[in-house]
Amino acid sequence: MDVKTIGVIGAGTMGRGIAYAAALGGYRTILEDVMPEMLINANAWIAHTFDEGIKRGKLTSEAASAAISRIATSSSVEDVCREADFLIEAVPEEMELKLELFTLFDKFAKPNAVLASNTSSLSITEMAEMTYRPELCVGMHFFNPVPKMQLIELVRAPKTSDETIVACREVGSRMGKEVVVVKESPGFITSRVNALIGNEAFAMLEAGLASAEDIDKALKLGLNHPMGPFEMVDLVGLDVRLRILEYLHATLGEKYRPNALLKKLVAEGRLGRKTGRGVYDYPKEPGKS
Ligand SMILES: NC(=O)c1ccc[n+]([C@@H]2O[C@H](COP(=O)([O-])OP(=O)(O)OC[C@H]3O[C@@H](n4cnc5c(N)ncnc54)[C@H](O)[C@@H]3O)[C@@H](O)[C@H]2O)c1
Repeated sequence: MDVKTIGVIGAGTMGRGIAYAAALGGYRTILEDVMPEMLINANAWIAHTFDEGIKRGKLTSEAASAAISRIATSSSVEDVCREADFLIEAVPEEMELKLELFTLFDKFAKPNAVLASNTSSLSITEMAEMTYRPELCVGMHFFNPVPKMQLIELVRAPKTSDETIVACREVGSRMGKEVVVVKESPGFITSRVNALIGNEAFAMLEAGLASAEDIDKALKLGLNHPMGPFEMVDLVGLDVRLRILEYLHATLGEKYRPNALLKKLVAEGRLGRKTGRGVYDYPKEPGKS
């Protein structure tokens, strides 16, 4: 497969990061969103991220301008489908939205285009079954923030072809990422392990075994985790983590039953950094809204 143009659908947190990595990898990149202001914000974020990279000596200003010139935006999925050799969707985590998009991909994309979803938990098989080309459908799970995080989890559904996996490996490598391949199953590798660690940390906190600070410190300094489980869940969002655990509990069984303290904090609106309060408090800095 000769991939020249990558289409990214959804210009939110993940889509803009994926577009950044694709352009830096040398691909012509088209970023699409239904909300025009998201495209404006995404362009500003991408320019800022390139500036930061130059300041930190990670790339030259020539490389940054060349990458920026490879990025275009669009407000039509149909147009992106007609031009792209490789499509990655990063719209919100709702199956109905993903199914609608895969139907459009199937209708308008080039016959050999790879159709990838950045879903963090949903079934690639269900999306693939909306198309007449399930062999080209795959999960491509990037991590947040995309410019900094090295991994892509490639999620292989039963009908995904070897050629599709090879194409994803090549795209991932040109984006400067490391790739792992996992057969489709709930939570893939990373979310499945992470949900369990986080849930266990809440169980220990609930039982009063140690403070949140000490549990975080133990995992960072004793087990070499870059972040403690509570720092991490405050960043991800407690509501997001609860939804993942509920899904894993329903699909994989009892050991994923969401911890009661996590549920209580979510019910109280303590969702993490985004609400100013999660496991920890995040006081507003003076002068910041
Ligand atoms: N945020 C994370 O940390 C993270 C990490 C890995 C994977 N993911 C997955 O990536 C996907 C996107 O997450 P996000 O955090 O970037 O979401 P987000 O809400 O930040 O962005 C989603 C974007 O999609 C746009 N959109 C909605 N419907 C659309 C449509 N029909 N066509 C085009 N654009 C549409 C929205 O306007 C928005 O800009 C989800 O599947 C999520 O599970 C998220």
